[in-house]
Amino acid sequence: MLSFALFTLCALAQGSLATEVAQLRLSETDLLKELSDRVEGRLYAGVPFAQPCWSNFKSSTCESIKKNYLNETSRFDTLGGYINTQWETCQATGQQCLLDWEDPLNPAPPSSETCQLGSISDHYIDVRRAADVAAAFDFSRKSGRPIIVKNTGHDYKGRSSAPGSVALWTHNLKNISYDAQFVPEGCVRPYPGVTMGAGIQWGDAYEFAEAHNITLVGGLDKGVGTSGGWLMGGGHGALTNTMGMGVDRVLQFKVVTPDGELRVANACQNEDLFFALRGGGGGTYGVVLESTTLASPPVTLQVYVVQWTNSNATLTSGLWSVLVENGLKWAEEGWGGFVDDKSAIYISPNLDTVRANASMSPLIAFGEQVVKDGIEGATLLVLQFPSWGTFFNTFAGDNSAAIGVNLALASRLIPKANFRTAENRSDLLLALLKSHDLTPGLRFLMSPPTSYPGDGSTSVTPAWRDSVYHITLISTWNWNATAVEKKAQYDLSSRAISYLRAITPDAAYSNEADVYEPNHEVAFWGNNYERLLQIKRKYDPEQLLDCWHCVGWNPNSRRFACYL
Ligand SMILES: Cc1cc2nc3c(=O)[nH]c(=O)nc-3n(C[C@H](O)[C@H](O)[C@H](O)COP(=O)(O)OP(=O)(O)OC[C@H]3O[C@@H](n4cnc5c(N)ncnc54)[C@H](O)[C@@H]3O)c2cc1C
Ligand SMILES: *[C@@H]1O[C@H](CO)[C@@H](O)[C@H](O)[C@H]1NC(C)=O
Ligand SMILES: *[C@@H]1O[C@H](CO)[C@@H](O)[C@H](O)[C@H]1NC(C)=O
Ligand SMILES: *[C@@H]1O[C@H](CO)[C@@H](O)[C@H](O)[C@H]1NC(C)=O
Ligand SMILES: *[C@@H]1O[C@H](CO)[C@@H](O)[C@H](O)[C@H]1NC(C)=O
Ligand SMILES: *[C@@H]1O[C@H](CO)[C@@H](O)[C@H](O)[C@H]1NC(C)=O
Ligand SMILES: *[C@@H]1O[C@H](CO)[C@@H](O)[C@H](O)[C@H]1NC(C)=O
Ligand SMILES: *[C@@H]1O[C@H](CO)[C@@H](O)[C@H](O)[C@H]1NC(C)=O
Repeated sequence: MLSFALFTLCALAQGSLATEVAQLRLSETDLLKELSDRVEGRLYAGVPFAQPCWSNFKSSTCESIKKNYLNETSRFDTLGGYINTQWETCQATGQQCLLDWEDPLNPAPPSSETCQLGSISDHYIDVRRAADVAAAFDFSRKSGRPIIVKNTGHDYKGRSSAPGSVALWTHNLKNISYDAQFVPEGCVRPYPGVTMGAGIQWGDAYEFAEAHNITLVGGLDKGVGTSGGWLMGGGHGALTNTMGMGVDRVLQFKVVTPDGELRVANACQNEDLFFALRGGGGGTYGVVLESTTLASPPVTLQVYVVQWTNSNATLTSGLWSVLVENGLKWAEEGWGGFVDDKSAIYISPNLDTVRANASMSPLIAFGEQVVKDGIEGATLLVLQFPSWGTFFNTFAGDNSAAIGVNLALASRLIPKANFRTAENRSDLLLALLKSHDLTPGLRFLMSPPTSYPGDGSTSVTPAWRDSVYHITLISTWNWNATAVEKKAQYDLSSRAISYLRAITPDAAYSNEADVYEPNHEVAFWGNNYERLLQIKRKYDPEQLLDCWHCVGWNPNSRRFACYL
């Protein structure tokens, strides 16, 4: 957008304006040089993930990229790699550097296609210390260039990339330590706590927890960050029903605010910032360098799995009917888990085998029936795991969601009110099935903190505590879709979720919401929004940080030029 404006100006300009533009460019080079010096030379050029394939589609570097095109680790290990690839591109202009994710090995991208940066930052800082962040804020202030924070690139709403930006890459902040008597600075009471650099991801953290005989409550994907967008937006997983969300369990943040100060935010100092970081969203209030989170003793998990091989509408409807009929009871008994149209996985950290069996008897009966009916691949498993980590490695870990594709997600929090009467439950089941007809990737996440009231000190929408399911659905498009085709897929997700929207209040998870969520302030933050906005204005009066549908965002910012 900006370069277009400059071009038009130049074309019309007399010599003097052209000189001014040249000076402006020159001073930006100087500012980048100054930035590089201040960050000890850790300022690098951003490069699209698939770029080497445009130099030579047959080269060994390209071979490796093709082979790992859908590999989460390869993506999050590079600045230019994002999990949902449209956020590498400029959707509005079509500038991109993507391969065909349906068949990345073949064929070569057409020669008419060039490899372009799209929304990837042209420069990035490999962040190692607070001074790096302060230098970036100064750079943005002087140059007027947007800065963004990229951690793992998992964001579903494009909040970790922006055209024409300089990125702060937090991926290499990999320190992690456990203190059984962690006292938040300035407080008195100790808690068992794990302190993690902002680059630690759930895969790292669960491995650490196993080695230290503790439980950390996190998400279902190994690549999501523990301290970045996941945590600051809420943070759910299969244990959060009984053990609390990420924002319930965080004890302290270390964060560099836009004034360049490294601050400690916890229950005893910078309490307003602590509140805002516990649900107000990533990329908004400052750059987090580390967080400390509550560690719990190990949990024994009762696990129930029903699954079969091929999608079948009759079976899906039968399974989901059992789940909805028992949904409220199971949520109140502490069950967590995840479900799609041909599998259901339920886990309990707080019931013994006898009580768990009694509680799950309707699911067991359904599972026994599909096995007896000889449905292809039908399986009923009743298992016990000695820890979260052992369960995670078996059932989550590597395949929690689509990787390396373009994808539009939408979601809804489903409150207890939708489960009260027989009529409510049949309305809910019907809405779920209609949504699924449009978007077969619909999933139930049994992750709201139904049994964890919290202490009222987090800033996520209070609707989370009154909810039973977090429902997500997706639609996708291929690498060469037109802007019109992309928009049609966003619209499809919005339309699919509308059946659930029609019977629920305005409440959704900020990290897994429709990119075009209507009334997003209320949906994500409920009555916490006004206070969050005041805190945003206090700590970031110059709006150096900004992101899509974030607290206090400026929808007209050129950061958002690539959104459709
Ligand atoms: C495959 C997959 C599985 C998922 N599973 C779960 C799940 O089980 N539970 C769940 O709750 N969510 C889940 N999510 C959603 C996840 O919470 C969001 O994608 C979240 O934004 C990821 O945060 P990140 O820091 O890892 O990613 P990024 O995309 O790098 O960052 C996300 C946002 O946080 C900001 N940010 C990141 N780091 C910092 C920092 N250090 N300081 C300040 N701002 C920062 C960024 O600027 C951006 O706005 C999943 C997403 C995917 C793609
Ligand atoms: C994914 O990539 C990582 C690192 O780039 C590599 O170690 C791993 O083996 C790859 N996984 C697969 C399934 O190829
Ligand atoms: C990480 O830990 C090392 C060793 O304790 C320490 O020297 C370093 O400062 C830490 N880095 C950060 C960013 O906290
Ligand atoms: C792990 O911790 C639990 C309780 O916190 C304890 O009972 C158990 O003995 C510990 N196991 C090991 C191997 O240290
Ligand atoms: C779906 O499952 C039902 C119930 O078991 C079965 O009768 C039907 O044949 C299946 N349909 C298909 C298309 O497999
Ligand atoms: C629980 O149910 C499963 C499946 O029916 C059964 O194999 C197991 O023995 C039961 N466990 C208990 C403690 O009743
Ligand atoms: C639940 O059903 C009752 C009638 O059975 C109805 O009055 C109420 O509006 C329904 N609630 C929701 C959320 O659909
Ligand atoms: C898009 O790419 C696919 C596979 O790479 C190809 O089959 C299709 O024809 C392409 N569509 C357009 C409009 O170019």
